[in-house]
Amino acid sequence: MADEKQDLRQIQAAHAELYDSEAEKFDDISLHEDTAGKLRQFLLERFSFDGKTVLEAGAGAGRITDYYVDRAKRVVVTDAYGSMVGLLKQKYAGEEKVTAALCDHRQLISRFPEPFDVFISAFSFNYAFDPSVGDYDAFLNRILPPAKQHIIIECCGFYEEFDYLPPESVRYVHALEKRFRKTVIGTEFVFSSPEQAVAAAKVLFSPIAERVRQEGRAVIPEMIYVYYD
Ligand SMILES: C[S@@+](CC[C@H](N)C(=O)[O-])C[C@H]1O[C@@H](n2cnc3c(N)ncnc32)[C@H](O)[C@@H]1O
Repeated sequence: MADEKQDLRQIQAAHAELYDSEAEKFDDISLHEDTAGKLRQFLLERFSFDGKTVLEAGAGAGRITDYYVDRAKRVVVTDAYGSMVGLLKQKYAGEEKVTAALCDHRQLISRFPEPFDVFISAFSFNYAFDPSVGDYDAFLNRILPPAKQHIIIECCGFYEEFDYLPPESVRYVHALEKRFRKTVIGTEFVFSSPEQAVAAAKVLFSPIAERVRQEGRAVIPEMIYVYYD
């Protein structure tokens, strides 16, 4: 068990460094994700953002925000790292309805107590969870901000389900499974060369980097899980 926890901490620490000091590098990699736009299409067809107040947690550089921002009435985008919040502030400088704030997922309820119509978090809410939180179901209930519609998006595998996730992250996914409905979207990262795919995998999804190298393709398949009530 100690090794499993160690793996999760190592992955989270490596990602934290990337988000904190190399926000643009992360943003470059994420722009190769789901280039076919399947997630965007699903979100806009399945959920309404029209005239809604939206709280988006762990918004990064605003990639998902861009999908719905034109439709929403008011949007608060948060991130735990100043470099990411800086990118968000720059991107939405002219948009009065968008507020970018530095905020860890665990502080969302105290910082933004008013209920929003929509709470959305993409590839990020998992970072609030590690073995120190104890009961994952109770912790999820405690930190999830109130909203009429919750949408939590996570990557739950590349070549196979959970091939990248350490066991403690699978526990988090199981907590989501108990509380929400789910739609799985099969998509892919498309890079310009196999070498670029390997380099990106080493940075962001290290447990599958060797498999990416062996496949020798510029494309990495991905399973996106969308959880919602
Ligand atoms: C994989 S990125 C996803 C960014 C964006 N949602 C997207 O889909 O492009 C994860 C984001 O979560 C942020 N993050 C990590 N830990 C966090 C935490 N504890 N609270 C809030 N944001 C966090 C990171 O800074 C990063 O911007």
